[in-house]
Amino acid sequence: MVKITTHTKHVVVKTAFCLLLPLLLFAVVFYLHFQTQLSVFSPICRCASQPAVAGAVDDDHVERLRASATFLPLKDTRHGAETWFISTLNATAEPEGEARNLFFPSPASSGRLLCLSAPSRHDGAKNAYALAWRDALPHGVASPLLPGLTFVSETAYDHTNIWHGLTSLLPFASWHARNGCRSPPARWALFHHGEVRTEMSPWLATLAEATTGAEVAIETFEAAPSPVCFEEAVVFRANVAGMNGERMLRAADFMRCKARAYCGVDASTSKAGGGETSSALLRVTLLFRTGGRAFKDEAAVTRVFDKECKRVAGCAVAAAHVSNLTFCEQVCPPVPCKSVRLLSSTDVLISAHGAQMTNMLFMDRNSSVMEFYPLGWKERAGGGQYVFRWMAGWAGMRHEGSWWEPIGEPCPNNPDILDCWKDRQIGHNETYFAQWAARVFAAAKERKASAGGRPREATGCICS
Ligand SMILES: *[C@@H]1O[C@H](CO)[C@@H](O)[C@H](O)[C@H]1NC(C)=O
Ligand SMILES: *[C@@H]1O[C@H](CO)[C@@H](O)[C@H](O)[C@H]1NC(C)=O
Ligand SMILES: *[C@@H]1O[C@H](CO)[C@@H](O)[C@H](O)[C@H]1NC(C)=O
Ligand SMILES: *[C@@H]1O[C@H](CO)[C@@H](O)[C@H](O)[C@H]1NC(C)=O
Repeated sequence: MVKITTHTKHVVVKTAFCLLLPLLLFAVVFYLHFQTQLSVFSPICRCASQPAVAGAVDDDHVERLRASATFLPLKDTRHGAETWFISTLNATAEPEGEARNLFFPSPASSGRLLCLSAPSRHDGAKNAYALAWRDALPHGVASPLLPGLTFVSETAYDHTNIWHGLTSLLPFASWHARNGCRSPPARWALFHHGEVRTEMSPWLATLAEATTGAEVAIETFEAAPSPVCFEEAVVFRANVAGMNGERMLRAADFMRCKARAYCGVDASTSKAGGGETSSALLRVTLLFRTGGRAFKDEAAVTRVFDKECKRVAGCAVAAAHVSNLTFCEQVCPPVPCKSVRLLSSTDVLISAHGAQMTNMLFMDRNSSVMEFYPLGWKERAGGGQYVFRWMAGWAGMRHEGSWWEPIGEPCPNNPDILDCWKDRQIGHNETYFAQWAARVFAAAKERKASAGGRPREATGCICS
C-alpha cells in the first residue's frame, strides 16, 4: 500500500517534471542566448533525473525555486546607459528627491535577495545577477550568503578619482543618514559598466568610513565564478541621478559633519571658543598642486593674495601642498585643530582646477572658492570644466569665478590647444588676481560679520 502511494507520487512528480520541460528548455535557450558562461543550470539537469522522494513536496518546491533563479547579464547591451545595470528592475527614488536605487530584499524584489556572479573585470556582460529567496538560493552559490548590508555602486566614472568618487558616494551617504545610520555597510561591491572594480581612492575610502562608521571592505568576487548572494543590498547605478538640490545639500552637510568628527575637529570648541573671534577672522587657503596644473610661481601667487589679505582686518593666508596632506589634514590639520586652519576653517579656497578642489566639501557652507585653469580649457574643454562650480552649488559653497590663463606659446607639434596645454603649469596676472581677491575677501568678510560668526553645523550629523 505504502509502496503504491509512493509509486503514484513518483508518477505525479515525474509528470510535473515533464510539464516543467518547456520551462527548462526556455531557460536553457535564455542561458545560451546570454552566454553568461555560468554553470548554474547544470544542477537542473541533475535534478530532473533525480526526482524528489516521496513526502518531500516542500523540498520539491524549494528545488523548483532554486532552479528558477535565472542569471542575467549585469550589463544589458540592449539598453541605454540609464538602465543597463540590472536592467530588468526599475530603480525608485524613495522618498521623492533622493537618488534612484534598488533595495534587496524588498517588496519591489518580492522579498528576493540579490545574487551576483562577477568574475570579470573587463566585460560587464560576462557578469550576471539573479534574484532569489533566502531559503532557495540558486545552485552553485557560495554559502553562506554574505551577511549584513552591501553597498553596490555602479558608476560610468570611477571610484579612484576623488571628484568622480564623491558623486558616487553621495547617494549612499544620504541613504545611510536617512536610515538612521542603523546598519553600516559590511562591504562595498564596486562596478564600472558592470565590470568589477576593486579600488577606491584612499581619500574616498576614508570619507566613506567617516560617513558610515565602518571601514571600507571591497568585495573582490575572487571566489568567482561561484555566485554570491547578499543578505541585504542597496544599489545605486547612476550616481546622484534623481537627487534634488536640497537633498544634496543635506548629504554634503552630513558628510562634512561626519568627516570633521572622524578627524577630531571639535565643532563646539570652535564655535564656543571662537564665536566672536572667528567672525572677526577671514581665513584664506592656497591649496597648491604639484606637477600638472601647478602655479609656475607659487611664491609670487602667495604674495599677491597675502597682500590683499593684509588689507582686510583679521585676514590670514595659509598655503599648503595637497600632496603633503593626509585626509584628516585636508579636513583639518592635526591637533590643536582650532589653532590651525585648513579646510574646515577656510573661508576662501584658492586652487587650480583639479580633484583636490573636492576638499571644498569640508568648508563651512557659504565659503568661497576661486579657481584657476591653464591655457586651452576655456577655449576647448567644454562643460566638464565647470564640475567644481556644480559641486560648489550642491555643497552649499560660493564659486567666485575662474581665471583662465590667457596667453602662451603655440605648441609647434600640436595644433590642439587643450591637448597641448591641459596639464601645464599656470602663470599669474598680479593686477587681475589682486582686484579679484579684494572683491572676494571684502564680501566674504562682510558676510561673516553679518552672520555673527561661522555657521557651524549643529544638525549636520543627525541620522534621521
Ligand atoms: C519600469 O518603468 C517603466 C516606465 O515607468 C515601465 O514602462 C516598465 O514597465 C517598468 N519596468 C518594470 C520591470 O517594472
Ligand atoms: C610639500 O610638497 C612640496 C612639493 O611636493 C614640497 O616642495 C614641500 O617642501 C612640501 N612641504 C612640506 C611642509 O612638507
Ligand atoms: C548663506 O548666505 C546667504 C546670503 O548670502 C544666507 O541667506 C544663507 O542663510 C547662508 N547660509 C548659511 C548656511 O549660512
Ligand atoms: C592682467 O589683468 C588686467 C586686469 O584685468 C588686464 O587689464 C591685463 O590686460 C592683464 N594682463 C595680461 C598680461 O593679460
